[in-house]
Amino acid sequence: MSFKLLEGKKGIIFGALNAESIAWKIAERAAEEGAKITLSNTQVAIRMGDVDKLAEKLDTIVVAADATNIDDLENVLKKSIEHFGGKVDFILHSIGMSPNVRKKRVYNDLDYNYLKSTFDISAVSFHKLLQSAWKLDAINEWGSVVALSYVAAQRTFYGYNDMADAKALLESIARSFGYIYGREKKVRVNTISQSPTITTAGSGVRGLGQLLDFSERMSPLGNADGDECANYCITLFSDLTKKVTMQNLFHDGGFSSMGMSLRAMGQYEKGLKIGYGLETLPDKDKKA
Ligand SMILES: NC(=O)c1ccc[n+]([C@@H]2O[C@H](COP(=O)([O-])OP(=O)(O)OC[C@H]3O[C@@H](n4cnc5c(N)ncnc54)[C@H](O)[C@@H]3O)[C@@H](O)[C@H]2O)c1
Repeated sequence: MSFKLLEGKKGIIFGALNAESIAWKIAERAAEEGAKITLSNTQVAIRMGDVDKLAEKLDTIVVAADATNIDDLENVLKKSIEHFGGKVDFILHSIGMSPNVRKKRVYNDLDYNYLKSTFDISAVSFHKLLQSAWKLDAINEWGSVVALSYVAAQRTFYGYNDMADAKALLESIARSFGYIYGREKKVRVNTISQSPTITTAGSGVRGLGQLLDFSERMSPLGNADGDECANYCITLFSDLTKKVTMQNLFHDGGFSSMGMSLRAMGQYEKGLKIGYGLETLPDKDKKA
């Protein structure tokens, strides 16, 4: 159902790779709500993924960019302004990648060059995007910028590795830049902290299946899926949330406020009965 919440608005969506991508679902929902959008992803992602199909469906352009490269980001902003014939109203940063996770380097054996890349791709790119938009004055007053985060920024999750630190930085950038952008241009900047979701990036997280099950049992409303995240994101792009800024907004069925739930306790008890305790884990996992 469309409420036409984004009628007349124009936005840029970074990070749609395939139909599973959260950015893909947000792009489709934004179009449904009446927005015009442009898309961006890396050259490799455009070649390997399906973003061209999405562009065809939404009748728009794809501008290739490595989000760590300022010239590339400026090019996306300029091409989008040219395409729309004016400034944009919203931007989605849906970008994350950790070479340490990819190469299975655990948190107490990180490769520091990989760590730099994790930070650059998953967090500093958000600052670069905001700074480029600021310098080009690319966003209309009362515009909205959203990046996607995860609760591992606040709490430790086995297997989330250096992405936890990247998300903490990402959320901090939203606050710091949100202050300046709000003060000077009335543009709001927020992060949405989304439930674990099955996507290409999500599948890289160690033990995603268990994590999904655990958070489903812990959350009174259950995990939020990608379509629900898209719905929430649309409200943040809309004029209904004009005074919401510098926030990390949990979209997780209540997970982030829980300590222990009945459903998780039930499963935990079952595990203890069949003797599945710490002693059954391989040594390397006990330490990780
Ligand atoms: N899937 C989850 O469980 C989950 C939960 C909370 C938050 N998030 C966050 O949501 C965002 C989107 O991830 P997703 O789960 O939809 O997975 P996804 O794999 O579909 O999206 C990740 C995107 O990042 C892009 N990317 C990687 N390196 C890039 C670079 N250098 N420049 C530009 N783009 C680059 C990829 O091409 C891809 O499109 C990420 O920030 C992720 O951390 C995901």
